[in-house]
Amino acid sequence: MSDSLTLDNPVITVRPADTEDVPLIFDNISTWAAQGKMLVRPMQNIFENMRDFYVAEIQTDDGPIFAGNGALHILWGDIAEVRGLAVRPDIVTKGIGKKLVEACELEARRIGIPTLFAWTYSVGFFEKCGFKLIDKTKELHPRVWSECLRCPFFVGCNENGVMKRLVGVPVPANLPEPPPTQVPPGIR
Ligand SMILES: CC(C)(COP(=O)(O)OP(=O)(O)OC[C@H]1O[C@@H](n2cnc3c(N)ncnc32)[C@H](O)[C@@H]1OP(=O)(O)O)[C@@H](O)C(=O)NCCC(=O)NCCS
Repeated sequence: MSDSLTLDNPVITVRPADTEDVPLIFDNISTWAAQGKMLVRPMQNIFENMRDFYVAEIQTDDGPIFAGNGALHILWGDIAEVRGLAVRPDIVTKGIGKKLVEACELEARRIGIPTLFAWTYSVGFFEKCGFKLIDKTKELHPRVWSECLRCPFFVGCNENGVMKRLVGVPVPANLPEPPPTQVPPGIR
């Protein structure tokens, strides 16, 4: 990753990730994970889910610079998770995170997914993006729980669940029932 940046009103663009972005995404997520702000994501997992990922760049006279990443992962026909969202630490609060969430929302609308979900320690940020904090013991979609079963922090998880209903996107008419998942013990 390049040296620290000081930028006023940067021009931010967001595009789908490609293979050359993966090491940058990995480094960025690992940096935040080391501070306990998000879960670590192995590089293999990022390659395997690369088509979920978007990359934000800021335009400079020397060309575009990596500014952050975020992903939209489909869980069921009516819900997708915004995950792997991380802005380069030296350029937070410049609007980059919001642009990444907007890209995820645009894609969810394009494919007809009516609800977005995220696990986060940054509830205030997601509220600014139109999400609402939910009661994770009552309001979680069953498919969200089944993903939790694979998380190493499953027991004693202290992340918050946030959700956004996308106005104007109907629930698919032929939506099958997701497989039942019991609310796991140990989640506060
Ligand atoms: C959370 C994160 C993605 C926000 O990205 P960002 O580029 O700094 O956020 P933005 O500049 O787009 O902020 C959008 C709005 O949210 C606010 N905001 C940003 N971070 C916030 C936070 N942690 N708490 C409350 N509000 C926050 C901003 O002030 C801004 O408000 P405004 O619209 O009134 O100006 C970034 O801080 C980050 O990568 N954090 C570490 C990883 C993480 O927490 N990921 C979240 C999901 S795992």
